[in-house]
Amino acid sequence: MFILVTGASGQLGKSIKKLVKQQKTSDSFVFVTREHLDLSSFSNIKNFFETHKFDLIINCAAYTSVDKAESNKAEANMINHIAVKQIAEIAKNNNIKLIHISTDFVFDGSSLNPYFENDATSPLNTYGKTKLDGENAILSIMKFNAIIIRTSWLYSEYGNNFVATILKLSQNNSNLNVVSDQFGTPTYAGDLGQVILDIIKSDKFNILQKASKIYHFSNKGVCSWYDFANEIVSVSGANCSINPINTDGYPTSAKRPKYTGMSKEKISKEFDLKITFWKDSLKFCMLNLPLITPLNK
Ligand SMILES: NC(=O)c1ccc[n+]([C@@H]2O[C@H](COP(=O)([O-])OP(=O)(O)OC[C@H]3O[C@@H](n4cnc5c(N)ncnc54)[C@H](OP(=O)(O)O)[C@@H]3O)[C@@H](O)[C@H]2O)c1
Repeated sequence: MFILVTGASGQLGKSIKKLVKQQKTSDSFVFVTREHLDLSSFSNIKNFFETHKFDLIINCAAYTSVDKAESNKAEANMINHIAVKQIAEIAKNNNIKLIHISTDFVFDGSSLNPYFENDATSPLNTYGKTKLDGENAILSIMKFNAIIIRTSWLYSEYGNNFVATILKLSQNNSNLNVVSDQFGTPTYAGDLGQVILDIIKSDKFNILQKASKIYHFSNKGVCSWYDFANEIVSVSGANCSINPINTDGYPTSAKRPKYTGMSKEKISKEFDLKITFWKDSLKFCMLNLPLITPLNK
């Protein structure tokens, strides 16, 4: 297969690139950044796909600044919805498969139990709404050959993410306040990247005219941002106390759901996956970070 990966400078794009380098595959991957394929431009997208041919697109690019999206609605909508719609149309017309990444923020967080793929969506913020519009555009255009994977609380060895932020802050502060009344599941981008590569290799993915579907993937377990921060500090050995605070004590432009645990039963059964507990994946990721010496190394 000839495979395009968008968002190559982002967390997931970089994680997939690293995995592809480490693993032998007969597939050819092309990784593109905004420089090669700018999703804010209709003509750029059109021209790009007129001159490059693929069997599969893995769309890791997105407008991911949740708070900034509140004041940049048009840009978030362009990248997370309109460009996704255009890509889905191109994919359908050219018989290209599509793997697209979405978010737990399509849910409002009022559930007390893990969300299933067909549970009602009701995003609380612009980012979640634009991502949901992107999902719906794909499903209405591509009855076949598209997979949407909703994930949550993504972190990696790359870029800005919660792990990097807590590590940095905990090295320079003896106390940190972290929200303890929002619950979800951290997801190591390396694990999500591996799942995508496993799916691509599976017979179930490679059948012709496979009905388009949504799947959930995160690591195993549920925690609060406070629990997550505590674990990061404990693994790093930083001398810093984490204090639990309520959402009200940390105002943000975008409203966030209280609870976004997601059931992974569908993806794990269909593709025969074993999902790692979030604390184990966090330790693995932190071992790969250059500046950290975990206590339990
Ligand atoms: N991060 C999370 O916590 C989280 C949670 C749930 C779901 N997700 C979803 O998971 C996927 C991967 O997220 P991630 O954390 O890897 O995101 P990320 O690190 O923010 O990477 C997103 C990538 O999209 C690119 N991009 C943004 N605007 C673009 C444009 N106009 N044209 C082309 N590329 C553009 C960015 O390029 P630049 O580097 O040039 O800006 C960046 O490389 C996304 O679909 C996201 O919505 C993420």
